[in-house]
Amino acid sequence: MISDDELGELERTVELALRSGDASALSLLGEGEISLVLAAGSGPRRACKRLPPFPTAESAERYTATIGRYIAELEQRGVDVVDTEVRRVRGSDGSIVLYCVQPILPATTLAVDIARDEPDRAPALLADIIDTVFATIDASVGLDAQLSNWAVVDDQLTYFDITTPLLRTPDGVSELDSDVFLASLPWALRTPVRRFVLPGILDRYHDPRTVSLDLASNLIKEHLDHLVPEVLSATAERVARPLSGEEVRSDRRSDARLWAALQAVRRADRAWQRHVRRRPYPFLLPGRANS
Ligand SMILES: Nc1ncnc2c1ncn2[C@@H]1O[C@H](COP(=O)(O)OP(=O)(O)O)[C@@H](O)[C@H]1O
Ligand SMILES: [Mg+2]
Repeated sequence: MISDDELGELERTVELALRSGDASALSLLGEGEISLVLAAGSGPRRACKRLPPFPTAESAERYTATIGRYIAELEQRGVDVVDTEVRRVRGSDGSIVLYCVQPILPATTLAVDIARDEPDRAPALLADIIDTVFATIDASVGLDAQLSNWAVVDDQLTYFDITTPLLRTPDGVSELDSDVFLASLPWALRTPVRRFVLPGILDRYHDPRTVSLDLASNLIKEHLDHLVPEVLSATAERVARPLSGEEVRSDRRSDARLWAALQAVRRADRAWQRHVRRRPYPFLLPGRANS
């Protein structure tokens, strides 16, 4: 458990880091493309994933409920999900900040570490992930199956990246409050990204073929290129148009370009806010955090 006081203290530390641009007081467990994952709390420390601030209590409530429904849907479809509690804290400017709190998974249980350190286990692990992808995903429930979102806990494949709930309504509209994530983009870019970029990104998570393609292309990013053929063979019989090594490499190139472009824009905006507007930049950006 992490108490409300401890969580409040973590939020103050994060805010201080944002104001000073110095993240050294934060204990980072990892960073994904969306959130930074912090270790905090006394007794057994917890993994605390901070979501961008919400403007209203209602939007925070809605987001909390969507995460709850997403986890329930996954479990109903047989996917094990790490115990997750969504907690709320008040930011010092009055905004509402949500943290997804989970037990800290030891490195030896993380799929990326297993693939790297125990190569004999990698083929079965990838086959297990692909089986889960094909058994779970459909038009309403999506999954981001890249290796960095999985662990093996008590011999059981377990999913833990639930900060971006991938749910769609029956008419295909994403239930994700995209404003939460778009908030870290400069104002002028939010509308075009929401309209033209995000739907394409989100659709990908509802198609087992593109989710597998994404898993394979992320293996290249993780320097695990030698495992790409495992994904190709595990999917070959299940898709009308089998994946090829060339398709995986080309996907990797365009994914890298898209994220680099988004990050460059966010970094430029942060520099503008800090140095010209003299305001703290209100988000922690993944990567070279404080340049
Ligand atoms: N419960 C956890 N215990 C230990 N490490 C974690 C935990 N959750 C996430 N991480 C680390 O942080 C990284 C990013 O977390 P993730 O939940 O996938 O967030 P994102 O949405 O940013 O991708 C993971 O790949 C992992 O290395
Ligand atoms: Mg992730």
